[in-house]
Amino acid sequence: MLTKEQLPSELITERTTVHRALPDDLPKIATWPEYSARLAALSMNRQETPRPDGRLWWERIDAPDRCHYSVVLRESGEIIGVHAFVRIDWASATVANMGIRIRADVCDQGYGSETLAPLLKGALDSGIQSIRLDVAATNQRAVRCYDKCGMAIVDEFWREHKGEPIDPADPKWAPLLPHLRREGDKWMVRFYWMEIDSG
Ligand SMILES: CC(C)(COP(=O)(O)OP(=O)(O)OC[C@H]1O[C@@H](n2cnc3c(N)ncnc32)[C@H](O)[C@@H]1OP(=O)(O)O)[C@@H](O)C(=O)NCCC(=O)NCCS
Repeated sequence: MLTKEQLPSELITERTTVHRALPDDLPKIATWPEYSARLAALSMNRQETPRPDGRLWWERIDAPDRCHYSVVLRESGEIIGVHAFVRIDWASATVANMGIRIRADVCDQGYGSETLAPLLKGALDSGIQSIRLDVAATNQRAVRCYDKCGMAIVDEFWREHKGEPIDPADPKWAPLLPHLRREGDKWMVRFYWMEIDSG
């Protein structure tokens, strides 16, 4: 059976080093700026607050079915990203979801694809059979990034929209309306399952 030790321990990319997350990484990640209102729920600056069950960040992530990585800018040593394999099933060698964040001020500069593509390849080369993640169809930058990394949309589902209120008359929502629908007094948002496999 595959083990966590067999997953990549460190990767070097053109501008970054990607290493396994360490307890000391949290203070650096927790000072990241918030994402824009639409992505606010994904912000990392709440990670120092214990969850309702009392667990702190490191207790949550240092789990048998998870493998977390920090993305470090080689030039400055700053942590500018985190990638996490979550819900790893070691028996079937599959990853059922991922968490991916690039620091807000350096999004859209290629760091996501520069680091995620080799990490996915490294995991598949080490024996992982498939890696999945769910992403809001309205998060078009993320969908594009995963597509560039070789992931394909394999399924979709709808989830209740939380966060920034949707005003369909506001032009900023116009391009996203195909992925939104009303159900009574709720807005639902389309999510994709995207996947890459060893085949
Ligand atoms: C999603 C995320 C990891 C991607 O990393 P990144 O470094 O920003 O992505 P990259 O720069 O490698 O690639 C982004 C691509 O999306 C494109 N893009 C940006 N905004 C877009 C939009 N509104 N619609 C479509 N494509 C868009 C970029 O042009 C680029 O594609 P290109 O190289 O073909 O030009 C990062 O933006 C992030 O952490 N976002 C906030 C948190 C988040 O959304 N996490 C994912 C949750 S599933």
